[in-house]
Amino acid sequence: MQADYDVIVADNLSNSVDTALERVKEITGKTAFFYQIDIRDKAALTEVFNQHPIDAVIHMAGLKAVGESCAEPLMYYQNNLDASMILFEVMQSFSVNKVVFSSSATVYGDPDTVPITEDFPLRMMNPYGRTKYMVEEMLRDITLASNMQAVLLRYFNPIGAHDSGLIGEDPHGIPNNLMPYIAQVAIGQREKLSVFGGDYPTVDGTGVRDYIHVVDLAKGHVKALERIAETETKQGQCLTYNLGTGRGSSVIEVINAFEKVYGDKINYEIVERRPGDVPEYFANPQLANEEMGWRAEKSLDDMMTDTWRWQSQNPNGYKDD
Ligand SMILES: NC(=O)c1ccc[n+]([C@@H]2O[C@H](COP(=O)([O-])OP(=O)(O)OC[C@H]3O[C@@H](n4cnc5c(N)ncnc54)[C@H](O)[C@@H]3O)[C@@H](O)[C@H]2O)c1
Repeated sequence: MQADYDVIVADNLSNSVDTALERVKEITGKTAFFYQIDIRDKAALTEVFNQHPIDAVIHMAGLKAVGESCAEPLMYYQNNLDASMILFEVMQSFSVNKVVFSSSATVYGDPDTVPITEDFPLRMMNPYGRTKYMVEEMLRDITLASNMQAVLLRYFNPIGAHDSGLIGEDPHGIPNNLMPYIAQVAIGQREKLSVFGGDYPTVDGTGVRDYIHVVDLAKGHVKALERIAETETKQGQCLTYNLGTGRGSSVIEVINAFEKVYGDKINYEIVERRPGDVPEYFANPQLANEEMGWRAEKSLDDMMTDTWRWQSQNPNGYKDD
């Protein structure tokens, strides 16, 4: 919205709250159109396209918890694949031919080497990752057969929050990811962080990931839209970019960085490795830089400062509003 796009949001609020959009209004001074719909509901989605001329779609809707996807694979295939197919069908029927898709670095699985470039083999390790891969494949096929243009953005590990402290991550229940877990230990909602694995072949034995500030990630989407707006429409245009910083940080490095901002110790314990986790991965983000002019600008310290601002200003996430 700050890049001057008029934004229409369609979300079933299965993992979000509309308070976040009120906060977006506070930040931007603008209101996004909002439709609380499940995008698998073709009639409801068609109605949104009937109401607005739409230039492009950023498709982020999906379920995303790896563990849950192993326990409930059908739910993941059903939601993530059906939602995508119906969305692409409706887009085609309205001749909307630009789409940016939220894919994930999880499609690389456990890579042989790092940093990871976009041409690495894809080795999904769980149903969630396979849904991402399958939607990528769908878009590769659709773009080959039509004038649809797609950008697949493979996110590494988004963390942080908007620097206003007004919008941030508010997971339901026990967080699946490191950063919200650390923040909840800091605010006193969780007693202790479990660090899964201290004997990986990494700098200090803990897992290494490429953490990227969520605002840098958001800017990557604006760049992706510009990238497809400026290129001539042609068949088979499906571009893939890593969105990462190119730097890996271990769990211990993240805890240390957070403690500097927080001013105290984080209670943690190193426990057994978690099945399905990989030792180390980080991006080579050069292609996104060369072709989209995008580069992550924020540091790990910015990510920690913004996470803590969000969490300390909103101890219960959006639930207090
Ligand atoms: N957060 C990460 O670490 C990460 C990493 C890589 C990729 N991704 C992908 O990026 C996207 C956004 O991630 P996020 O972290 O903001 O997750 P999120 O859960 O906050 O956002 C996904 C949104 O989609 C909505 N949704 C789900 N199914 C829907 C449906 N059928 N119809 C309408 N709305 C639906 C949810 O309510 C939620 O608001 C997801 O597709 C996710 O798989 C996230």
